Amino acid sequence: MSSVPYLRFAGPVLDESTIAGVGDVLRSGWITSGPWVREFEDALSAFCGGRPVKAMTSATAAVEVALQLAGVGSGAEVITSAQSFFTVLNMIVKVGATPVFVDCDLVTRNIDLAQVEAAITPRTKAIMPTHWPGSLVDMDALLALARRRGLRVIEDAALVMGSQWKGRNIGAIGDLVTFSFHPNKNMTTIEGGALAVNDAAEAQRVDALRFHGITYLPDRTRDVAFPGGKFNLPDVNARIGVAQLARLPEFLATRRALADRYFERFATDPPCVLPPRPRNGGGDGQTWNMFSVLLPLDRLTVTRRELRDALDARGIGTGVSYEALHLCTLGRRYGYREGDFPVTERIARETVTLPLHAGMTAADVDRVCAAVTEIVHRARA
Ligand SMILES: Cc1ncc(COP(=O)(O)O)c(C=O)c1O
Repeated sequence: MSSVPYLRFAGPVLDESTIAGVGDVLRSGWITSGPWVREFEDALSAFCGGRPVKAMTSATAAVEVALQLAGVGSGAEVITSAQSFFTVLNMIVKVGATPVFVDCDLVTRNIDLAQVEAAITPRTKAIMPTHWPGSLVDMDALLALARRRGLRVIEDAALVMGSQWKGRNIGAIGDLVTFSFHPNKNMTTIEGGALAVNDAAEAQRVDALRFHGITYLPDRTRDVAFPGGKFNLPDVNARIGVAQLARLPEFLATRRALADRYFERFATDPPCVLPPRPRNGGGDGQTWNMFSVLLPLDRLTVTRRELRDALDARGIGTGVSYEALHLCTLGRRYGYREGDFPVTERIARETVTLPLHAGMTAADVDRVCAAVTEIVHRARA
């Protein structure tokens, strides 16, 4: 057993004043949605250029509500990338719609917009792209396409809180935008998410969709006209969110420096496919939620599982981001098969997510790079 502490591949940074703040909320007598949620939503709204933003218990809840808000339901199709997290597939199916997958780019991993255009049918209601760390979807091309074809856009921004497109935060532009505050993301509320919407009417509808479908009547009774969910964020979590959002620039700078270090130090033989290299010393608007590489498995004598186990034995955690959505059991129910999306499938086979979070040091990155290099070198075919 190594004496070095285990290096998780992702995780939060929580300071003592935040922990004390949570204690204050717990002692205050009001622990579910209340003043801290309002404060958190105001801060998120300022972050999103003044647009209304609604906090929820997860990004998954925010995606479900966004689909409902966009009128996506039975009979509708939603075009999305097969290289993303299960949330995307699950929520499209959950609201009664049909997922229509397209492939992505090998290096940026973003949805292929030419394939999106080709997949549009009269039943298409929305496009739901996932932004990737280090490389945003081309927002100009995406929004122009959606406008031209009369489609809603739901951006899955779970991985890119703080990324900027042409100087504006993701969430400040576009149509509907969802964020995740899971502990593995750029900032956390333990579990949590948010949805940026276009106007007060949409915000009001989200209020109902996230809380039982309830609307309030003038006589101080309540009505339900459609079935809502129960996705309101508690104040305990919002208190953490307020503190985390204030520290986001610092977290992002640390993540950026760690990603830069990976690019400096990561050089296996045979080589891995790396994410797009950062440009302009931080001025390119990208953020680094994770550092995922593609392993040269066809030139190695080890499987990905064996390589990950070897890293684990050296005290280094890894992840898989992501499996191919069209090939999971649920995806296959829509008729998808191996070979449909070669880039997505290659990423799903070869990808490994290496440790990257704001609690790490440059020495941690060096340790990961040395371990991966050594394992790959020894396993050369
Ligand atoms: C790309 C992507 N979208 C959505 C989600 C869902 O986030 P949450 O756990 O907040 O529901 C995740 C979670 O890992 C994700 O990675």
